[in-house]
Amino acid sequence: MKPIIIYYSKTGFTRQYAQWLQEALGCPCVPYQKRRTVSFPQFDTVLFGGRLHAGRIQGAKWLFNQPCKLKDKRVVLFFTGAMPPDPTAAEKAIQQNIPPEWRDTVQAFYLWGGLRYEAMGPVDRFMMWGFRRMLAAKKDPAPEEREAARMVAQSYDKASREQLGPLLAYLQTGGQ
Ligand SMILES: Cc1cc2nc3c(=O)[nH]c(=O)nc-3n(C[C@H](O)[C@H](O)[C@H](O)COP(=O)(O)O)c2cc1C
Repeated sequence: MKPIIIYYSKTGFTRQYAQWLQEALGCPCVPYQKRRTVSFPQFDTVLFGGRLHAGRIQGAKWLFNQPCKLKDKRVVLFFTGAMPPDPTAAEKAIQQNIPPEWRDTVQAFYLWGGLRYEAMGPVDRFMMWGFRRMLAAKKDPAPEEREAARMVAQSYDKASREQLGPLLAYLQTGGQ
């Protein structure tokens, strides 16, 4: 297997997972900004990582616009977010972000990241402020909304190497 990792990260969670994957696989790891330097014919497996941003996996649009570069390669998408792992929510993100024509070929994995307010830009901080306000304004919040409001009140880090287990196992089995 000749893999390459390309990742889109703003506050470091996706980068952290990309680096752990790089250690495990001993392969190149390239930030999104340098994606144009990648020589795709050298690799047979492309691992792309992006962060969830208001339901969108950032960078995924670019990835799925490269059918020629990805032809006959194994494509793995990993995406990080603040939401606790939940198969239904992860499936929703997959439906929203992987175009139908790619769903049979791409394997996707959700990796819990967290929130890092100190590393966010002003637009992200403002969006999170709006989100917190929206949660706080709920008249009769459901238990999960109450929990979400509690969690997003400050930074937290839920990233762990263990979460890469299913992705690494998938690669080891040759994706069968
Ligand atoms: C404006 C904004 C919107 C976000 N939207 C989502 C979201 O829809 N779902 C989710 O689980 N996490 C969401 N997050 C949390 C990020 O996906 C999470 O912090 C991610 O791990 C950041 O990755 P990075 O550190 O590599 O940039 C959002 C964060 C920000 C700042």
